[in-house]
Amino acid sequence: MHDNSRPEPSGRGRGRFITLEGGEGVGKSTNLSFVVNYLTQHGIEVVQTREPGGTPRAEAIREQLLAHDSEPLDDDAELLLVFAARAQHLARKIRPALARGAWVVCDRFTDATFAYQGGGRGIDKERIASLEHLVQRGLTPDLTLLLDMPLEAAEARLASRLESQGGSKDRFEQERRDFFERVRTSYLSRATAEPERIVVVDAQGDLASVQSRISEILKQRIEQWR
Ligand SMILES: Nc1ncnc2c1ncn2[C@@H]1O[C@H](COP(=O)(O)OP(=O)(O)O)[C@@H](O)[C@H]1O
Ligand SMILES: [Mg+2]
Repeated sequence: MHDNSRPEPSGRGRGRFITLEGGEGVGKSTNLSFVVNYLTQHGIEVVQTREPGGTPRAEAIREQLLAHDSEPLDDDAELLLVFAARAQHLARKIRPALARGAWVVCDRFTDATFAYQGGGRGIDKERIASLEHLVQRGLTPDLTLLLDMPLEAAEARLASRLESQGGSKDRFEQERRDFFERVRTSYLSRATAEPERIVVVDAQGDLASVQSRISEILKQRIEQWR
């Protein structure tokens, strides 16, 4: 029997889906709250979330992805865990929110999979694209803010964050410099391929100038989508 409570296949309701992307320490989490506040002040219902994770089960998969273990995690297993978490997140949180008209603002999404598992780990893009198709069924972000800055500058920010918040580096943070160079290059080439969806934001300036640029982009999109 057809289940009417199930969102349409693409999950596309009236809500918009915005993602923040970029390497470690570029300011994604900092600017996520800014985006959420900006939209809320414009009378929009916003659901704030992150990947990998976003629901209790997906957060449990995140733990698996980030934890160090004496048993190395196979690249394909890593990729499948990322998409398993994403399937759960889409089904339980993102699609229902969009279907009821809320906007979803997510710290990282599939562009990160192409950048980290594709560029970083060297997994074939076609393999990733086939999982994207399987899991997302056509649902992709409406807007992606790609925060970009040179690695050295981001590393300096990260060092002060580690100092102030304590803790140790996770399984990705401990990768080598060339890994992160490939991540950055992959992100930028995706932005070149999809300039309408992915807007590159220079993340190197002070927070006020980064946020003024983000406001401009959001203002323009809100008008465009009205
Ligand atoms: N534009 C900025 N200028 C200076 N410091 C920043 C800026 N944006 C973020 N930070 C700081 O840099 C660190 C990393 O930012 P964060 O938002 O955690 O990055 P990400 O989530 O991308 O890893 C944090 O300590 C944050 O306060
Ligand atoms: Mg963060």
